[in-house]
Amino acid sequence: MEVIIKKTYEEMSKAAAQEVARLLNTKPNAVLGMATGSTPLGLYQELVRLHRNEGLDFSQVTTFNLDEYVGLLPDHPQSYHYFMHENFFKHINIPKQNIYIPSGNTSNYQAFCSWYEARIEECGGIDLQILGIGSDGHVAFNEPGSSLTSRTRLKTLAKQTIDDNARFFDKAEDVPIYAITMGVGTILEARQLLLLANGENKAWATAAAVEGPVTGMVTASALQMHPLSTVFLDDSAAGQLKMREYYDWIEEHRPGAPQL
Ligand code: GLP
Repeated sequence: MEVIIKKTYEEMSKAAAQEVARLLNTKPNAVLGMATGSTPLGLYQELVRLHRNEGLDFSQVTTFNLDEYVGLLPDHPQSYHYFMHENFFKHINIPKQNIYIPSGNTSNYQAFCSWYEARIEECGGIDLQILGIGSDGHVAFNEPGSSLTSRTRLKTLAKQTIDDNARFFDKAEDVPIYAITMGVGTILEARQLLLLANGENKAWATAAAVEGPVTGMVTASALQMHPLSTVFLDDSAAGQLKMREYYDWIEEHRPGAPQL
């Protein structure tokens, strides 16, 4: 696991966007895994800027989103469908038919989840998965206690997640209790993982994910088992890392490091 700490949220977002751009420049038809939440907004803004100003092309890209609330229609302002459209898809040149987001309104969740998994595979698997982290250490909506081999499924949200996400809704009671989410096993099959975290309220979860034991109680810790995962942090999210000096040392010596 590579840990890259930047001073600010903006620098962190730009560094992560460079990684995505690098992939698209070598593989224009890449399959990207997308995340929602406030964390990746800066990354999406930077990708939109690269699209507008530097011609970063999404015309052959396919995307799969991590998760969606159950019971919200795609045009609900707090649905992840709406979030993705407003904050990213409508600003780039990705074909509509290449966008996949779990349905929060299917009549058969089990069948939908199997179809979603199969579709990922048919598209060649996810090349790069973008991830945020919940304050309880979850990735997507894989709450504490999730199996590290879990697949796309229905999940009951934890109270802490509902409280955290209540800020986006008029009142806490409006936050859906159920979600459909890619599993930890699904996420680990992506060829590359980028996890972003910013702000002091993510410092505990980040330290637990990066330096704690691999455990289903902190599903982001599963990234330790992935051969190509990078964690991009701002200064405050890195606040509880024990090996902070080492990560900074690596960064300082990066320009002279042997080329792979
Ligand atoms: C939700 C999403 C996660 C996201 C997390 C953190 O629970 N399902 O994918 O990482 O929120 O959100 P934020 O970035 O707003 O802190």
